[in-house]
Amino acid sequence: MNESHPRISKAVIPAAGLGTRFLPATKATPKEMLPVVDKPAIQYVVEEAVGAGLSDVLMITGRNKRPLEDHFDRNYELEEALIKKGDQERLAKVQESSDLATMHYVRQGDPRGLGHAVLCAAPHVGDEPFAVLLGDDLIDPRDPLLARMVEVQEREGGSVVALMEVEPSQIHLYGCAAVEPTGDADVVKVTNLVEKPDPADAPSNYAIIGRYVLDPAVFGILRETEPGRGGEIQLTDALQKLAADESAGGPVHGVVFKGRRYDTGDRGDYLRAIVRLACEREDLGPDFRNWLRGYVTEEMQGL
Ligand code: UTP
Repeated sequence: MNESHPRISKAVIPAAGLGTRFLPATKATPKEMLPVVDKPAIQYVVEEAVGAGLSDVLMITGRNKRPLEDHFDRNYELEEALIKKGDQERLAKVQESSDLATMHYVRQGDPRGLGHAVLCAAPHVGDEPFAVLLGDDLIDPRDPLLARMVEVQEREGGSVVALMEVEPSQIHLYGCAAVEPTGDADVVKVTNLVEKPDPADAPSNYAIIGRYVLDPAVFGILRETEPGRGGEIQLTDALQKLAADESAGGPVHGVVFKGRRYDTGDRGDYLRAIVRLACEREDLGPDFRNWLRGYVTEEMQGL
């Protein structure tokens, strides 16, 4: 471990976005609260942070996001009712989310972009490296990523982003990284970053996905970052500056992720996440898989 960097203990989860892709479901309900099987998407994200050893969690919220705070708080009325019924199993499920981590919240006010959301974490984070997990990005619990990113940051210093290879035609939906190989097969050095490039201008097909381990120098850069694409303050623009100038708080490395990841803010990906995770569940999986097999066979016959 690099002695100049303390052990990473804080996770920041930006969850202040408007969730317009999921309207009208997200008119009065945060998209992060939509259930993936029987848990809200955001609980998987907090569990992932805790699983990587980060038990201090700061959530960036905004208007209409109260249910996020309530979900990670005690609900004494409900607990009492379950105790009276002797329903220990459901009581444990209700208590699980409030016992997970030390939760903190800050409101973003105006959602001025992901970079601005991360900047809202500055007073809480202070001068330590920290992790950022996007609240609507679900990494399959069977494919750990964050722990590896923390390990790389502790060895290399600077910042670490998560990268995933995508079809070149899809790169315009993501931040994109130009990279050089390192001695580790799953780690690359990031030399440049571009937010949502046209496929013809993309330096690679490595897309940035919603996990970051950041050097606190990013805050100073974000303060000076002008609104970019879409009029929003882009985290990618600040990371680009770190990648271009190591003396500013770089380097930036990328961990290449080959596991399963779902953008639960996207309706198609959300459905895929539910089907996959439901199939793997011991309690629901056997029945659900049988039904799914029958359904798919029927659909194929109709083709
Ligand atoms: P998205 O690009 O998914 O935006 O944000 P969004 O507003 O949440 O959703 P759509 O596109 O309108 O459907 C990526 C992540 O950054 C957070 C979001 O909550 C999400 O986790 N975010 C985005 C903020 O916290 N604040 C912002 O100002 C913007």
